[in-house]
Amino acid sequence: MTAIARKAGSGPGGPRPALRLAGGRVRSTEQARIELAAFADYGPFMEFDLEQTDRLLLTTKQIRKRMDMTRPVPRETLLECIDIASRAPMGSNVERNKWLIVEDDALKAKIAELYRANAEPYLAQSGDAPVDGRAGRVVSSARFLSDHMHEVPAMVIPLRLDRVEGWPSGDVSGWYGSVLPGVWSFQMALRSRGIGSCWTTLHLGSEAEVGELLGIPDTVTQVAMLPVGYYTGDSFSVTPRRPAAEITFIDQWGAKAADL
Ligand SMILES: Cc1cc2nc3c(=O)[nH]c(=O)nc-3n(C[C@H](O)[C@H](O)[C@H](O)COP(=O)(O)O)c2cc1C
Repeated sequence: MTAIARKAGSGPGGPRPALRLAGGRVRSTEQARIELAAFADYGPFMEFDLEQTDRLLLTTKQIRKRMDMTRPVPRETLLECIDIASRAPMGSNVERNKWLIVEDDALKAKIAELYRANAEPYLAQSGDAPVDGRAGRVVSSARFLSDHMHEVPAMVIPLRLDRVEGWPSGDVSGWYGSVLPGVWSFQMALRSRGIGSCWTTLHLGSEAEVGELLGIPDTVTQVAMLPVGYYTGDSFSVTPRRPAAEITFIDQWGAKAADL
């Protein structure tokens, strides 16, 4: 099988081997299936370079101020990342997810306007966070993205058929659990290719208006909107989070792993 080629890519941290689907063109579903089947020949699959996989998981961040607004992101690269993201688990393995890539400048400008209309009141509320703290940095970064949203190289909207209003919580959980893992996989596939993204939801206050602009049926749910663009700079710190032993209980609620 020759459809997959290993190419040397140069990304942050120097040259690295990268998977590239052959062709570099927009492929039909059948072609994509055939080409992705070639991953089976990419093994052995039993061992991973933990340094690489942990680094990807620990340092994939939401990119806003470091997004290069001037460098276009090839459509085929986005499709390649969506192909990879589609391997995420789905309840009952039912494929009801869709993706919409917005490339058109006029559409991006209108979506950015709607995003800002929702983001501004939210950010104004958070305006008191100390700018030198972590929360303050997030607010400053979120404000930057809101102000520059119309400039992003592309917007990617993950979608799932159906609406969950009024569903029992277990069904809602299964429904979102069938679409959101792919969004994170998409972010990591992008990151591995030198492309940053930011998971956003603030435009959802205007979901219907954005849906109308893009011709999305009202039976379909937009679950997020990710501005994407190559990132600048060459290092990422580890995302700060509370340690596992502090947030994990053993056998009983409240029995922290850290205390046992
Ligand atoms: C469900 C969800 C919704 C989010 N919505 C937005 C958003 O609308 N706008 C934004 O700038 N960031 C949004 N974020 C990004 C968070 O603010 C981000 O995770 C936070 O800045 C911490 O950054 P880090 O994940 O890189 O550590 C969202 C993240 C998640 C998971």
